[in-house]
This record gives sequence, structure tokens and C-alpha cells, in this order.
Amino acid sequence: MSYNKKTVKDVDVKGKKVLLRCDFNVPQDKQTGEITDDKRIVAALPTIQYLLGQNAAVIACSHLGKPKEGPDPKFSLAPVAKRLGELLGQEVIMAADVVGPDAMAKAAALQPGQIMLLENTRFEKGETKNDPELARKMASMAQVYVSDAFGSVHRAHASTAGVADYLPAVSGFLIAKELEVMGGALANPKRPLVAILGGAKVSSKIGVINNLLDIADTIIVGGGMAYTFVKAMGGTVGTSLLEADWLDYCKEMMAKAKEKNVRLLLPVDTLCAAEFSADAKPELVDTMHIPDDRMGMDIGPKTIALFSDAVKDAGTVIWNGPMGVFEFPAFAEGTRAIARALAQTDAITIVGGGDSAAAVAQLGFADQMTYISTGGGASLYLLEGKALPGVACLLDK
Ligand code: 3PG
Repeated sequence: MSYNKKTVKDVDVKGKKVLLRCDFNVPQDKQTGEITDDKRIVAALPTIQYLLGQNAAVIACSHLGKPKEGPDPKFSLAPVAKRLGELLGQEVIMAADVVGPDAMAKAAALQPGQIMLLENTRFEKGETKNDPELARKMASMAQVYVSDAFGSVHRAHASTAGVADYLPAVSGFLIAKELEVMGGALANPKRPLVAILGGAKVSSKIGVINNLLDIADTIIVGGGMAYTFVKAMGGTVGTSLLEADWLDYCKEMMAKAKEKNVRLLLPVDTLCAAEFSADAKPELVDTMHIPDDRMGMDIGPKTIALFSDAVKDAGTVIWNGPMGVFEFPAFAEGTRAIARALAQTDAITIVGGGDSAAAVAQLGFADQMTYISTGGGASLYLLEGKALPGVACLLDK
């Protein structure tokens, strides 16, 4: 798939109405609705500011959460409009609907240099079905479509892909940067390329491991997903996370690593506990011999040394998924140590979105990484080598 797509700089947007798809799917406090992390809004600013600087009239849109039953105030983008307005230092006009009379009237009246935000695109049932009629209505408000919603490019929805059938479609600066950094690291990496994979489940990274075995020089597997590999190697994993259905897959991947001459590193020691709790007492055991009544919660010191050493001389490191239950301080050291190793290496360090980005931020290493992706699911799709509908629909350079 070509990542060489036209950007907002390759089309004339001066004085034009621009439909801008952002990923404003931000976390909110369940009680107050307050935005708890505005990174995705901040990440959209360069494109918005560029468009406003070009005197475009910007009609921004996004989804928020997964509303299933039409409009629901709980999922309103109004708090995002407020925060975006504060960051931009100018009013963000909020529409009461997506393609209804309010949005249409406000879009028609929008002046160059002004910005408005449509309501949550998922308030329209046709959004997730990529309904052409909805896409056509959204496109009818504008003359150019700019997508900067990297976090949503793996979705073939009306606002992320469908609208491109009706308008000249280009990327914003965020998508361009994500594709340049992540796409570049996969297509033409500075070697050795080390991929660190963690998180709970092997089943969520099936395509990722398989694809990376064709690309990487070293693959490190930690986190909950490592125990299915350990079991596949003949170890005992106690009550650790285990996906029995994926044991054969793990065996296949280990065989593929051998055949492709890819170094596949797994934990050698494990911090385990009697129960899944922040207060559980950590016990260090050999990873191949986790007692029957214990579950693995983090990687141990020998594993930290092994993994950190593999990162030291890397050219590029891509990290997706924590090494243990980092939310519990007693089991955060493995993830922290890997973040530290990434902070200390001279390699290009790229952190996938979602849990890994949260871990790096929570542990205080965010500003020491080369790049942290804004897309969780989207960055996994990239690592899997899968087509991204929200990128494929954009004009080629
Ligand atoms: C994300 O948070 O990963 C994106 O905004 C996509 O959200 P979705 O999984 O609800 O499509």
C-alpha cells in the first residue's frame, strides 16, 4: 500500500470550505465528562492552524466513543469544541447535529478563517456502515476533504473514507507524520530493527507478529502474551493469562523466527503473584516453572537485562504493549525499565498508541521517545501491514 499521499500543502485550500476529519476520540471523566487527556486535540492543531492561516473555513468532524442508538448527550463533542477553542484562542462553533439542519445552516454561513465542529459522526447510523448517502451529505458542505484522524484510519466509515468519493481528499500533517515515522520504520528501517511486543493477548497481535517476522531483526515478547509462548515451549504457566487456542500459532511463529533468522526473545524470569491485585506480594520465579497457583504479573530482573541489552545497539525500536501490569506499582518495573532502555538508546524509538503510549506517559518517559503514535488500533494495523482505508482513499502524490 502506498503511503505517498497528497497533503494539505498539495492542494489549494485558500478561502475554501474544508471538511476536516480529526480523531477527537478523547478519554473523559465518567462522572464529570471532563477531558482527561487532550493529546489528540493538541495533535490536530498544526493542520487546523495551517488551514485557518490559509483563510479556509474549517468544518471539523470526529467520532467520540461508540454511541449505538443515535444522538446521546453523553457522547456529545461539545466539551471538545470548548477545549479546542481554548487551545486555538478562537471560537469553535458547535453544530447540534452531523448533517441535519443546524450543521447545514452553520456550514453554509461559515466564513473564511472560522472553524466549526459537527456533532459526533456516530450519531448518524450510516457512519460506521460507510453509507454513501451520509458521506455525500457531509461532503456537500465543503470543497476539499482533509483527513488528519490517524487514530481512525483503520476504519472504513463514511467520515474517514466514504467522503473521499465526493471531494478531493488529502492528508493533514498528523497523518503525514505518522506514516512517515511508522510507515518509514517498517518499509525502510535503520537496522537492526527491534520490535518489542507486550500486552495481554497473543490473539490481539496475531497479524503483527507474523508480519514483523518478515521485517524485524529481533522480536521481544513480554507482557501477558508471553505466557502462551512459554506454554508452547513446554513451560508451566500456573494461573497466568493463557490462550490455549493459540498454542499452535506460537509454535509456528517460533519456527518461522528460526527459519527467517530472527532473534525471538522471551522472558526468562517472572514476577508472579497469588492473585491479580495491587497489594499482591511479588515473587520471582523462573519463567519456565511458574507454580500452579501463581500468575505472571511482570518480567523479572534477568529479563529486563536481556531485553534492555537487545535495545542498546538497535537502529530502530518499535514498542507496542506493556511488559506487565504497570498499573500496579509493584509490577510496573519491567515496563519502566524497558521505557528507560528506550530513553537511553541512540536508536529511533517509536511507541505504538493505546496502552503503550499511556504506560510511557504514566511512567514519565514520554518526552524521551522519538515518536509516540496517536493511534492504538491504527498503529497495530500498520504493524500488521494491513491496508488502511482512511489512507488508501487519499489522493496519491
Ligand atoms: C481509537 O481510539 O482507537 C480510535 O479513535 C478509533 O476508535 P474506535 O475503535 O471506536 O473506532
